[in-house]
Amino acid sequence: MTDNLLQIIRPDDFHLHVRDGKAMRSVILDTARQFGRAIIMPNLVPPVTSVQQAARYRHSILDALPDGTDFTPLMTLYLTDRTDPDEIVAAHESGFIHAVKLYPAGATTHSDAGVTDIKHIYPVLETLSKVGMPLLIHGEVTDPAVDVFDRERVFIETILSPLINQFPDLKIVMEHITTKEAVQFVVTAPENIAATLTVHHLLMNRNAIFTGGIRPHHYCLPVLKREEHRQALLEAAISGNPKFFLGTDSAPHPQHAKESACGCAGIYTAHTAMELYAEVFDQAHALDRLEGFTSLFGARFYGLPQNPGTLRLKRERWTIPESLPLGTERVIPFRAGDTCQWKVIP
Ligand code: NCD
Ligand code: ZN
Ligand code: ZN
Repeated sequence: MTDNLLQIIRPDDFHLHVRDGKAMRSVILDTARQFGRAIIMPNLVPPVTSVQQAARYRHSILDALPDGTDFTPLMTLYLTDRTDPDEIVAAHESGFIHAVKLYPAGATTHSDAGVTDIKHIYPVLETLSKVGMPLLIHGEVTDPAVDVFDRERVFIETILSPLINQFPDLKIVMEHITTKEAVQFVVTAPENIAATLTVHHLLMNRNAIFTGGIRPHHYCLPVLKREEHRQALLEAAISGNPKFFLGTDSAPHPQHAKESACGCAGIYTAHTAMELYAEVFDQAHALDRLEGFTSLFGARFYGLPQNPGTLRLKRERWTIPESLPLGTERVIPFRAGDTCQWKVIP
């Protein structure tokens, strides 16, 4: 490694939306070019709630990859009020399902079928705890009386804290954390509690939603927060604490669904993910901490081996495309038209 060239163990993305059908075929290679594996989020319509559906979804992803592509989709199940604990046992035994996802009903994109009350899934959590499979959480309360910017903090206070007391051995990943309170919570929690960090929450604060007008392409959930929170996330990312690892939450939506009177939440970062994480760590003078965050800590938490290959990045200015294909439509990638300081090279 020099100042201008980075070689790291092939990274993993521990939080990724690839959608399905033609859209999936458009985006999957963006991830496979950089990452060895990715945790595939199950919020399709209809959601991926059974081992059988996850097997079908996994095959469709593998089918979309050119022969010889070195990429493994790590599948997940979507929890509902009616998930049967036996399905968790079957998921664990499947060998290809690596976690289950808790969406509080109504919290985010395609979460209508999610859990309406955490108590409904206590038997499922018991089983997860027993088999040692991680619970991935979209940690926001959905009470409309709670301010949108406080929903993560209130979730931690009212749902997550009691939950970890109730299920002390349950492995939990707080997904896409956005607040200093979440960082603090994870730092002080036991070893079995970790968190993923997106690159957009490391790069932007909430002003980015309103710079010169409303910016629908900067709208995601949990919504961007104040600068003090971004600072806390950045410190966590570069701290070398293995409880914090990479999860892009790359979430493509067609251009028209974002640029709308009621625009969807989700930012498409997969196209330029590793380049932008490198930029974040570089700006923080912490490039020596990048590999742990991108390639070691997440795999260790999930009980997976390190990827065999490497990824190389070069310091080089290039321009991120203005738009990219998404099935029959277009997606506007994060930082479209902007320059990037790092480039993945063969
Ligand atoms: C995600 C999506 O579009 O699926 N959107 C987002 O803003 N993050 C859902 C999610 O991860 O909450
Ligand atoms: Zn989410
Ligand atoms: Zn997500």
